[in-house]
Amino acid sequence: MSAFQKETVLSVRHWTDSLFSFTATRDPGFRFQNGQFAMIGLEIDGRPLVRAYSMASANHEAALEFFSIKVPDGPLTSRLQKIREGDIILVGRKATGTLITGNLIPGKRLLLLSTGTGLAPFASLIKDPEVYESYETIVLAHGCRQVSELAYGEHLVEGLREHEFFGPLIRDKLIYYPTVTREPFRNRGRITDLIASGEIFSDLELPGLDRETDRVMLCGSPAMLEELHAMLTVRGFVEGNHSVPGHFVIEKAFVER
Ligand code: A2P
Repeated sequence: MSAFQKETVLSVRHWTDSLFSFTATRDPGFRFQNGQFAMIGLEIDGRPLVRAYSMASANHEAALEFFSIKVPDGPLTSRLQKIREGDIILVGRKATGTLITGNLIPGKRLLLLSTGTGLAPFASLIKDPEVYESYETIVLAHGCRQVSELAYGEHLVEGLREHEFFGPLIRDKLIYYPTVTREPFRNRGRITDLIASGEIFSDLELPGLDRETDRVMLCGSPAMLEELHAMLTVRGFVEGNHSVPGHFVIEKAFVER
């Protein structure tokens, strides 16, 4: 049996020149935990060309969804960005990843901190009803260079707010904090700086970072992860993994070079 399942593209949406998302059929046997990733891609000259992609869909959904950058000369994304409804993609049969709630010690507030396409695993987690049962507050922070790059996240959160089931569930629990670094916007600055200064919490009129109550998931650029890892460690937060749950967990966002 091949390590990959062939799935059919159901829809594609281009958000900016450099960002797109797509949905595809899901094999009923493909199981994953919200926040995990799988190897996905295309068959090129009879061989799989795949990269790690977080599922942006939740595990209760019938279709799979992915959020991707477009790298003009990237081996995979230069091709993947051209997919259309009806095309075939490859989806690895095994999902994995550390951004799962089971890797965290129980807490009261869940901080989901992302940059760029690092938002994807959190798109899955904020559609997980169990997350709302486990935490009193969920803060979803998403940092981008430009306002236009926030569109996928804004659309996602808006959709949940209007959703028949999720709307009432998330109303008092999900706090969305988009921030932009390279042009004017209501929230400005890097997530690292906003956490270090406490500005994100004062803007939201929430208590500051607290190891006793806060659990953190990080997904974004390697530099962002490194800085936040150091910042959390200094404050006594311990990184969790599959064997020992902790106060925070980390995953690199998919980046094609
Ligand atoms: P900046 O514009 O100041 O570089 P990218 O598109 O390069 O992946 O960046 C996505 C977002 O992540 C941008 O807003 C960028 O800010 C920000 N960013 C880049 N490096 C870091 C870092 N070390 N810590 C926090 N945010 C970062």
